[in-house]
Amino acid sequence: MNKLTSALCCVTLSTLSLSAQTNTLRGAFAGKFSIGAAVNVTQVHSPSPAMEKLIRTQFDCLVAENCMKGEVISPAEGQWNFRDADRLVELCQKNKQDCYGHCLVWHSQPPTWFFHHSDGTRWTRDEAIHYMRNHIQNVVGRYKGRIKAWDVVNEALNDNGTLRLTPWLEIIGEDYFEIAFKAAHAADPEAQLFYNDFSMHLPAKRDAAIQLVKRLRAKGCRVDGVGMQSHVSFDTDLVEYEKTIQALADAGCKVMITELDLSVLPWPEGNQGANIDANFAYQESLNPFKNGISKDMQRKQDAFYERLFDIYLRHADAITRVNFWGVSDADSWKNDWPMPGRTDYPLAFDRKLQPKPFVKALIKKAKMN
Ligand code: XIL
Repeated sequence: MNKLTSALCCVTLSTLSLSAQTNTLRGAFAGKFSIGAAVNVTQVHSPSPAMEKLIRTQFDCLVAENCMKGEVISPAEGQWNFRDADRLVELCQKNKQDCYGHCLVWHSQPPTWFFHHSDGTRWTRDEAIHYMRNHIQNVVGRYKGRIKAWDVVNEALNDNGTLRLTPWLEIIGEDYFEIAFKAAHAADPEAQLFYNDFSMHLPAKRDAAIQLVKRLRAKGCRVDGVGMQSHVSFDTDLVEYEKTIQALADAGCKVMITELDLSVLPWPEGNQGANIDANFAYQESLNPFKNGISKDMQRKQDAFYERLFDIYLRHADAITRVNFWGVSDADSWKNDWPMPGRTDYPLAFDRKLQPKPFVKALIKKAKMN
């Protein structure tokens, strides 16, 4: 092969690999914001080759769907189970993906031994502070320098903007936020620290989150921004949703879309946001797509996702990460929440790991932007 042919070969090859990269979500949105996914334990330890490739090539960052939560990582007092979380952090390093931490202080999925002694009596304030600090030091400290940002406190606000009455609030009082953020910062001064919640398009919740960040910053806490979970549905008001992104940006917050999914199934009653305590018995009539999603519904979902990403692109200065809550429809929590045993289609990749039509549209949109 002469020099000219080999140079042409190189150009063709690099053009090919460039176009292969830009035909992925991570490639198309590079330079705008990170595109991530929550992964489950099977995906971390033993994904199929196709799933492994999808996770590596489509996303530039990952977050643990469950394995960094208290109930998994701290099964008993003084015992730690870092097996799955370690593997995820190693995987991210191997794949050159950023790893995000979810979550440190939450009222749901706590270790069973949390909040009370073995005789049933509740922790005192001092004990709760001690165990919270200890938890944060151990988890954040172990991954120091390897987690880009932590969801420090998760879902601590009610939809009406008041503080959720969690055991943390009941036992410690309002300063539990400050204690948590300061402990996280001490354990890894480089990690970005976020407050994370669902239904953030609700004006009262938006305002409360911004006030919370302001209060914490005034007390000397590092708070980089707010995670908008974004378990959205077709009735999510996108005008209000965009207002939240803008209001957070105006308050000097980075914005992460931390748990994006869009269920196509009807709600059993009212919209529960993402309150995982909401649970309903299975109803056949509320499982309309068990043999496949209809063309109309797919089109409706495509259009809604496109509207969402138009918003994200408009606010790419403030948004640092858009993270899907799962990789393919098959593994979404929405198949079993708020009603077990349904067949939902909330994510970007279908059950055959193929991109939905909207993924191709988003890639095109990103390239034109
Ligand atoms: C969900 C997981 O996806 C499920 O596998 C688990 O059974 C319950 O929790 N808000 C959050 C996430 O912050 O951690 C929740 O994840 C979904 C709602």
